[in-house]
Amino acid sequence: MAMQIAPSMLAADFARLADEAAAVADVADWLHVDVMDGHFVPNLTIGLPVVADLLKYAALPLDCHLMIADPDRWAPDYASAGAQNVTIHAEAAAAPVRTLRMIKSAGARAGLAVNPGTPVEPYADLLDEIDLLLVMTVEPGFGGQSFLDLVLPKVRRARDLISRHGGEVWLQVDGGVTEETIGRCAEAGADVFVAGTAVFRSQEPAAAVEHLRAVAEAAGGQARPGTVG
Ligand code: DX5
Ligand code: ZN
Repeated sequence: MAMQIAPSMLAADFARLADEAAAVADVADWLHVDVMDGHFVPNLTIGLPVVADLLKYAALPLDCHLMIADPDRWAPDYASAGAQNVTIHAEAAAAPVRTLRMIKSAGARAGLAVNPGTPVEPYADLLDEIDLLLVMTVEPGFGGQSFLDLVLPKVRRARDLISRHGGEVWLQVDGGVTEETIGRCAEAGADVFVAGTAVFRSQEPAAAVEHLRAVAEAAGGQARPGTVG
């Protein structure tokens, strides 16, 4: 599975979302959209109406990361609206299997996210239900935070679980991913990289995406044999 770079719209100018999305359309793979409800995380961003409008203008597939208290209620609607990926948090979902299946039934890929303090092993049995596992590399809620190196052993364990499982499951990292940290993520086995500040707060967002990809690919090639497929 080729590496994917997903710029996070959280660091973009919210009054110019379509223009900001267009700036990376030729070089990025997915657009990462952070939905926050002020309850699961202490921040409020955008919801379904804005995502639905962005879908009309964005050339890239939308990767929706739902940091909301009731994903069981809302996640399937993002899939129905046309998001390519809909990711729910393990800490918030009351019925993750049902919700993940509803996301897929509505035509999207299903993702499961874990916060830095949440172990990944209890969710190993859900690998059959998901297309994407998101290991948060900051506490969710805000862009521009420092990368948490303490999460890297979990990224490695997640890669091993996915390798043993054998299916096609993306391993995504999100938070503090920069030119300085992305190599460590790739070496640990991640293959989808969300970057907000490093892309949209740079002078040249498209060039930043290209550089991030080059660093990730160089480091991913040095990952432990058999752990990155
Ligand atoms: C944080 C969000 C991230 C955020 C990353 O809760 O889930 O997607 O946009 O931003 P940076 O790359 O600035 O850490
Ligand atoms: Zn995110």
